[in-house]
Amino acid sequence: MTKEKTTIPQHVTIIMDGNGRWAKLRGQERLFGHKEGVESVRACTEFAVEKGIKYLSVFAFSEENWERPAEEIEGLMQLMLKAIAMETPLFQKNGIRFRVIGDFSRLSQKLRNEIDECMKLTETNTGLQLIVFLSYSGKWDIVQAANKVVEEKMRKGEQPTITAEEIDSNLSTSDIPHPDLLIRTSGEQRISNYMLWQTAYTEYYFTEVLWPDFRKMEFQQALDAYSKRERRFGKV
Ligand code: IPE
Ligand code: IPE
Ligand code: MG
Repeated sequence: MTKEKTTIPQHVTIIMDGNGRWAKLRGQERLFGHKEGVESVRACTEFAVEKGIKYLSVFAFSEENWERPAEEIEGLMQLMLKAIAMETPLFQKNGIRFRVIGDFSRLSQKLRNEIDECMKLTETNTGLQLIVFLSYSGKWDIVQAANKVVEEKMRKGEQPTITAEEIDSNLSTSDIPHPDLLIRTSGEQRISNYMLWQTAYTEYYFTEVLWPDFRKMEFQQALDAYSKRERRFGKV
């Protein structure tokens, strides 16, 4: 049998979209939606633990999101800082390994310190891996991987030709299995420069639900849809 029966995905990734619209519908500032979005991350993390999902990753801030108004960016970074500080004891209690992936060079020193501390503290936890993509872009990831491979080859005086395996093992996600399921909320059906390479054979699930409303029931619906998929990987 070459087909793979799908059950519980090993790695679920979510493009958390629609916070601004959720707030606007309530006559509130966009940040109000981002705050409620943090609650959804918590609910989905709990659910992933309950379901025995090994990796839950979330797209929190893209490279392109740096183009947003300074006030919104500042609010989002503050929110991130607070959320990490607040959730760390829970990560420890539940054996969750917390990781952040992205271009850290654009983050404040304070936020970097908080991230580093939490990542170090939870490094040996063997339960769910919760991975936050922050200041991330799929193109950036492929380019930095290619540069690493080329630099290494030049250093060794080898031909700078690159294989797919070499890219794969130098992506920022090199020790994380590629996503089985990608969920995007808020009705948008696009990848928005997220994990371009890693989603080559990922199953996509789109829902109209706005991120602050995406909780356990909606997550379960996505898993139900996934379990009906037949993944062929190009085979028959
Ligand atoms: C997703 O919600 C969160 C981030 C991209 C930071 P949005 O802020 O994109 O909300 P909408 O899409 O404008 O409703
Ligand atoms: C994608 O959402 C990025 C994140 C969820 C972090 P955006 O709201 O930035 O995407 P576009 O602009 O609608 O494609
Ligand atoms: Mg959006």
